Amino acid sequence: MRLIRVKDYAAMSDEAFAIVYERMSTNPRLTLGLATGSTPVGLYERLVSAYRTGKLSFREARSFNLDEYVGLAPDHPQSYAYFMREHLFDHVDLPAGRWDIPSGIAPDLAEECARYEAAIEAAGGIDLQVLGIGPNGHIGFNEPGTSLDSRTHVVELTESTRRANARFFDRPEEVPTHAITMGLGTILRAREIILLASGESKAEAMARLFSLNDFDPELPASSLHRHPEVWVIADEAALSRVRV
Ligand code: GLP
Repeated sequence: MRLIRVKDYAAMSDEAFAIVYERMSTNPRLTLGLATGSTPVGLYERLVSAYRTGKLSFREARSFNLDEYVGLAPDHPQSYAYFMREHLFDHVDLPAGRWDIPSGIAPDLAEECARYEAAIEAAGGIDLQVLGIGPNGHIGFNEPGTSLDSRTHVVELTESTRRANARFFDRPEEVPTHAITMGLGTILRAREIILLASGESKAEAMARLFSLNDFDPELPASSLHRHPEVWVIADEAALSRVRV
C-alpha cells in the first residue's frame, strides 16, 4: 500500500485524476470500477473537463460501480445510478451499454448479484478500482464483519452508515436499510486500486487502517493490505491522526 499525502480535497482530486488519466491514455479500453459519495466528485469533474477539452475519450472504456441502494430505481435522485449520470455518464462519451451498476429494484436480488459478478468477469475484470471509505472503515457497502472472499451481495446497512449518508436524503428515515455491493473479494480482484480520503470525518478510519498491516474484519478497508497495487491518496485532515 503506497500513501500519497496531499494538502486538501482539490489536491487529492488532482492526484486521483492524474492516475486515472494516465491509465486511460495508455489503455483506452480500460475497465474502471467507480465509487459514489462526496469523495470522488472532484475526480469526476476533472474527467469531464478532460473529455470536454478533447484530452480523453470514454468511447472504448467500461465501468462497473461498487454499489447501489436496494429499493431505489435508477431514476430516483438518491440512487447511485442517478448520481453517476449526474456527475459523469451524462457528460462524457461512455456509451450507454458500457457502464453497469447493480439494480436495486431487480425482482430477484440474488440473481442480480450473480449477474453482476458474471458481467465483471465477462468484461475481463476491473483494471482500476476507485474507492472512498466510510467513517467506520467500510468500502463499497462492505460493513465490519464482511469476509475477505465475499462477492457481490445484499447487505443490511449499519445505523452509522445510514446516518453518515442521511445528508443526501430529505429525511433520515428515507435512507434505505439495504444495499447491493461488490464484495471485498470482488474489489480485491481489481488489478489496481486507488483509495481516496478527505476530511476530518475519515481521520479515525485512516488511523486504524495505518495501524494495521493485515486484514482485520472490523475494518473492511484493511483488506487492501492484501492487495499488491494500492494507492491511498489522502489529505492532511484525513491523515491528522495517523502516526507516521
Ligand atoms: C457510501 C458508499 C461508499 C463511499 C462512502 C463514503 O457508504 N457506499 O462507496 O465510499 O459512502 O462516502 P463519502 O465519499 O460521501 O464520504
